[in-house]
Amino acid sequence: MNEKNAVRINPHFLKLRAGYLFPEIARRTAAFKKQHPEAEIIRLGIGDVTRPLTPAILEAFHRAVDEMGRKESFRGYGPEQGYPFLRKAIVENDYRARGIEIESDEVFISDGSKCDTGNIGDIFSLENRVAVQDPVYPVYVDTNVMAGRTGPAGDDGRFRGIIYLPCTAENDFLPPLPEERPDLIYLCSPNNPTGTVLPRSALERWVAYAREHRSVILFDAAYEAFITNPDLPHSIYEVEGAREVAIEFRSFSKNAGFTGVRCAFTIVPKSLQAIGPDGETHSLHPLWNRRHCTKFNGVSYPVQRAAEAIYSEAGKAEVAELVGYYLRNAAVIRKGLSNAGLHVFGGVHAPYIWVRVPPGFDSWSFFDFLLEKAHVVGTPGSGFGPAGEGYFRLSAFGEADQVNEAVERIRRCLENLPR
Ligand code: MLT
Repeated sequence: MNEKNAVRINPHFLKLRAGYLFPEIARRTAAFKKQHPEAEIIRLGIGDVTRPLTPAILEAFHRAVDEMGRKESFRGYGPEQGYPFLRKAIVENDYRARGIEIESDEVFISDGSKCDTGNIGDIFSLENRVAVQDPVYPVYVDTNVMAGRTGPAGDDGRFRGIIYLPCTAENDFLPPLPEERPDLIYLCSPNNPTGTVLPRSALERWVAYAREHRSVILFDAAYEAFITNPDLPHSIYEVEGAREVAIEFRSFSKNAGFTGVRCAFTIVPKSLQAIGPDGETHSLHPLWNRRHCTKFNGVSYPVQRAAEAIYSEAGKAEVAELVGYYLRNAAVIRKGLSNAGLHVFGGVHAPYIWVRVPPGFDSWSFFDFLLEKAHVVGTPGSGFGPAGEGYFRLSAFGEADQVNEAVERIRRCLENLPR
């Protein structure tokens, strides 16, 4: 074969040295299980919900499935951007109820925030500089690497061209404003993995920064339902002026147990603008609309009806109960690990507990240690970015008895460590 004529791959994929974090954890766990089939593994790694769908949501889901089975109520393609009933419920409950005005056609329903935070890069030039919190949800970095918006990774694990904003115990896990100007700033609050929420003052600083430097903030609020302090902001649009500088991502995965159902949404305000190659300003809303209509055919009708039911009175109460269940797990993990002598963070306004690994370990060796000795799976902090090295994440998504058991096993293992 003449190699010059062969198909070329996207070379940027080769910059990603490791596999995607969660499949890599699943692979290591499966390998351990193969060698130790008797081990009863407790999985607190990937943040995947375990509680079933709740009655009001399930009923709406069933009703909509039945509608699809009758000639007079069957539906084919729906609007790519989502059905008006769901967009309206979101506008009224997630925004108007908090004094925020969002128009329903600024809401784009999708099948997940992972996809949306990964795909949003489509509408931005490859020349844009990206800033990310470090550690953070790996999708932001990996998708920008795939797109070619970065150079290769250095020995320090940092991709050239990305501006990393280290969030460690020393700065209370709050991202510092960047020294160099980024075009696109990913902020995740409550943060995955540290569990830190950006207080209003910090959000105000970021919005002011973005306005001054004409940057765009990509605000991932997938975990906002876990915020327990009423003074903490759930949406970036609670800050005045954010409509001109921010896109917001929300998800039904973690609050309503939709990880397997798939439904989320993204807000692209019409007032948000950026520069085209002609030097003229363009609204981003029509660009995202164009991208959405071209590459996506909408979330299924029954799923959107199920999502709408989250906003019914019964749905709201059920979802609050679900969130409370996982937050009680988080409290158990926090207390248990802190009593066992570990430094724990997060887990109060988020379903993730961020732990400093004991002396003598790094993130991956602590992962291996817990897998081998406690048969508990967590997530190594370094998988979320170089500043996550030395930390470990435990997810509060799990059944309460399993979470109790995991904490007890970890405590016993730590007791046997030389001090
Ligand atoms: C996580 O564990 O960080 C999340 O479950 C990943 C995701 O939501 O895609």
